[in-house]
Amino acid sequence: MSRRVHSESPPPRCAKRAKMDRLTLESFKNGVVLAPMVRSGALPTRLFALKHGATLVWAPETVDKAILHSERVVDPVTGVVSYNGKSRAIWTTHPIEKPYLIYQIGSADPELAVQAAKTVMQDVAGFDLNCGCPKPFSTHSGMGAALLTNPDLLCSILTALREAMPPEITITAKIRLLPSQEDTLKLVERIVNTGISALTVHCRTRNMRDRDRAMIERLKEVVEFVKGMGKDIAVIENGDCLGAQDAERIREVTGAHSVMIARAAESNPTCFSKTPLADIHETLVPAYLRLSKYLDNNWSLTKFCLSQFKSPHTKPNGKAEEKRIRETIVKSRSFDDVADIAGGWTGEEDFEEIVRAIEAREGAANEKSKPSTSDANVTGKQEQAQLTAATLREEVSQPLSSSLSRAVEAKSGNKYITPPGTQNPHPPASDAPLMSDVQMTLPALISGKEPMTPTPIGGTSLVTPV
Ligand SMILES: Cc1cc2nc3c(=O)[nH]c(=O)nc-3n(C[C@H](O)[C@H](O)[C@H](O)COP(=O)(O)O)c2cc1C
Repeated sequence: MSRRVHSESPPPRCAKRAKMDRLTLESFKNGVVLAPMVRSGALPTRLFALKHGATLVWAPETVDKAILHSERVVDPVTGVVSYNGKSRAIWTTHPIEKPYLIYQIGSADPELAVQAAKTVMQDVAGFDLNCGCPKPFSTHSGMGAALLTNPDLLCSILTALREAMPPEITITAKIRLLPSQEDTLKLVERIVNTGISALTVHCRTRNMRDRDRAMIERLKEVVEFVKGMGKDIAVIENGDCLGAQDAERIREVTGAHSVMIARAAESNPTCFSKTPLADIHETLVPAYLRLSKYLDNNWSLTKFCLSQFKSPHTKPNGKAEEKRIRETIVKSRSFDDVADIAGGWTGEEDFEEIVRAIEAREGAANEKSKPSTSDANVTGKQEQAQLTAATLREEVSQPLSSSLSRAVEAKSGNKYITPPGTQNPHPPASDAPLMSDVQMTLPALISGKEPMTPTPIGGTSLVTPV
């Protein structure tokens, strides 16, 4: 069977699916969701989180300007959609995650935020505004936590996004607590009145570090306050949740509708399951390597994400085995060097498993809600997931001798192919969010080359002049 023709636009089936890709206010409730995490929230991590029970996934923050001039490129083999800058992928996604995917914007400008949203809206279900990042690279330009003390600007960005986006695309915000509860409630009131669909509260203040205990007990009043406003929107707790079981405790303490997990998911993306995988260096790591290879996930990014993995050991030699696997990965320079760890399966099979898991979950939800649901959007989402899964199965059941077909297609001069033997361009190598191409460092401007690691805070390695 011949491979589907690739194009800059999504294939017709994706366009059909996109009509049904919509979240509702309910989608943000009763869930455990993956937090936005620069670098750590990479595409394979998001897919494994979904496979293991995350109800929604947030993509890492991308600064508005960074995405504006990117080129949208669809990999015809895997369906991966890459938004490419001059020398790197700014952001990658896959249609399978679209119904659950919230794209987080870093912005201090309503117009730029809207332009950024318009650039990627065909590939996401919602947009979130980052109002919590306390790092100077964010706050110095008025973004992130700086918005907490500039509520006029914060709300004008949310309002602009709400007005510019079609109703089926949700707009949400992620804030931190302010030092005083009274100020927090005042801010929440203004934010909620912009018409957002959900509000995530990271239960730390701007000056608190991650090692400081999250003040989750302060959230109860926020939840009650939002209810008292007569708004049916979800309040999502963030801070110190360890996994699906722990989310129940947090919900009880805070009354929050849902719980968002960052670091625990960075350590183990299966923590959304009531039975998360243990010994993940032997269970998840091989699958993560295979899926990353199949999706052409950048090797350095894959390595970084794997280096963050931690889980309990259940076997006597677990610790030694983890050490061996870690050391092998650290020394490796490409996916080929870790073939032994990756084992026999192909990433394509891992991908199919993810599709089946999402399909099964949606199927179960469908059965549960059949008699009572009156929410056409929810039904649409279930149908969408089934259609997605069926379509993807059909697509992946085509012979996918990836490197061969890529070589053939590359020869045919197709610019959308990731050439054989290469990988997607390099994402940023610091924990700064992706910044705009126009914010090149001085040496980069002089040399005309783009920094490899485009962070605005120096220490960026530059493309070696040829
Ligand atoms: C590696 C890493 C990257 C992060 N990147 C983002 C980001 O892009 N946007 C954001 O709003 N928060 C970001 N955060 C903060 C988390 O989303 C979350 O608010 C914080 O870690 C607290 O949650 P936790 O206690 O579950 O880790 C990041 C955190 C980590 C550890």
